[in-house]
Amino acid sequence: MADKIIKSGEQLKVPDNPVIPFIEGDGIGKDIMGPSQRVIDAAVQKSYGTSRKIEWKEVLAGEKAYLQTGHWLPEETIEAFREYLIGIKGPLATPVGGGIRSLNVALRQTLDLFVCLRPVRWFKGVPSPVRYPHLVDMHIFRENTEDIYAGIEFMTGSPEAEKLMKFMKDELGVTDQVRFPENSSFGVKPISREGSERLVRAALHYAIERQLPSVTLVHKGNIMKFTEGAFKNYGYDLAEKDFGDKVFTWRMYEKIRSEKSILDADKALEEAKKTGKVIVKDVITDAFLQESLLRPYDYSVIATMNLNGDYISDQLAAMVGGIGISPGANINYNNGYAIFEATHGTAPAIAGTGKANPGSLILSGVMMLEYMGWTKAAEHVYDAMDHTFAKRRVTSDLHAQMEGATLLSTSEFADEIIRNMH
Ligand code: NAI
Repeated sequence: MADKIIKSGEQLKVPDNPVIPFIEGDGIGKDIMGPSQRVIDAAVQKSYGTSRKIEWKEVLAGEKAYLQTGHWLPEETIEAFREYLIGIKGPLATPVGGGIRSLNVALRQTLDLFVCLRPVRWFKGVPSPVRYPHLVDMHIFRENTEDIYAGIEFMTGSPEAEKLMKFMKDELGVTDQVRFPENSSFGVKPISREGSERLVRAALHYAIERQLPSVTLVHKGNIMKFTEGAFKNYGYDLAEKDFGDKVFTWRMYEKIRSEKSILDADKALEEAKKTGKVIVKDVITDAFLQESLLRPYDYSVIATMNLNGDYISDQLAAMVGGIGISPGANINYNNGYAIFEATHGTAPAIAGTGKANPGSLILSGVMMLEYMGWTKAAEHVYDAMDHTFAKRRVTSDLHAQMEGATLLSTSEFADEIIRNMH
């Protein structure tokens, strides 16, 4: 009988027939959702026979919701995600003049989905602009609720901007730092200890559970000391305080080096690696953007703030084949809410043509299966996708870049993956 997924203490309790709400999405959403669900269902069936099955429940958002209900994001949709905990969504068009800045942002904020998780790995055969894409295997934890993305902005010339400038000048002694005080807009960048800690805690748990080698805190703390610099310090504090014997931090390394010697510090680091501790380190964002291209094997789990995470996600996705196949999820690890999603947009120009690549949505479905603990089914899809790309049977976005490839429609590509599940 269909049942709800619930969070009980630290554990997610997943029934054999969980109800999972889905938002079809706008544009190519209609083209990719059905085929993606077929792939996920086939993997579940291959792995667990008839003992497990997802009960899909459609909920409305975007244009389809607006046409049927007059609302872009009906309250019932939010309620369904609250009730069933986990859901999946296709891309949503941003309504023009609808009073909502972005439906995606609205969903994230309402459900407080504080982690945007983007795993980045390469599938053999997929065209890549880098020479050794197989060395890229990273997991980005982007903070989803704070930073300059909090939406606190004041337009130049507005009474608010004038008031803020006056306050900064009269009360805070800000003078030369604002070069053109009469003509400046302002944005506010909140970064808190709680917000940083819950993000880094999730990244550390993920790394420890999966036995991944490192968590890297990516920040611009050299310039923005009290926001990005604080994020780095909060991350180290938390790792040392709450994960003591499971981690070895770069700060611990520096301490040994300054109190003893570099040899002792190196020895401690080697010992930590040998005993399977997660190495927690940090790197300045601009250096990371270079290093991740030049030495991708040095990085595994990345924990960073909202804006950095946005840039980094797209660069890393491009390194392994681009947005058509890069999955994502927005998760609140405390209460269990999670929405898995295609990371690309609605691609209106190719909607309804059978050209859309369903890879991103399929792989976000795989993330969902992993989150539910249905790992066997997740592995089935990974393997089958590996086979499909290796055989060069792909949708038109990849076909154009792959020599000797066979062109498949959205639906045929999904069928091919199902055929390749052994
Ligand atoms: P887009 O991702 O829709 O398209 C960018 C380019 O990538 C286009 O050439 C498109 O044809 C191609 N593309 C995207 N997904 C593809 C796929 N699965 N297979 C093959 N080709 C694919 O980005 P754009 O044009 O900036 O945005 C269009 C709409 O989507 C806007 O309303 C935007 O707000 C929305 N959007 C929604 C997102 C979401 O729901 N998560 C994310 C990004 C944009």
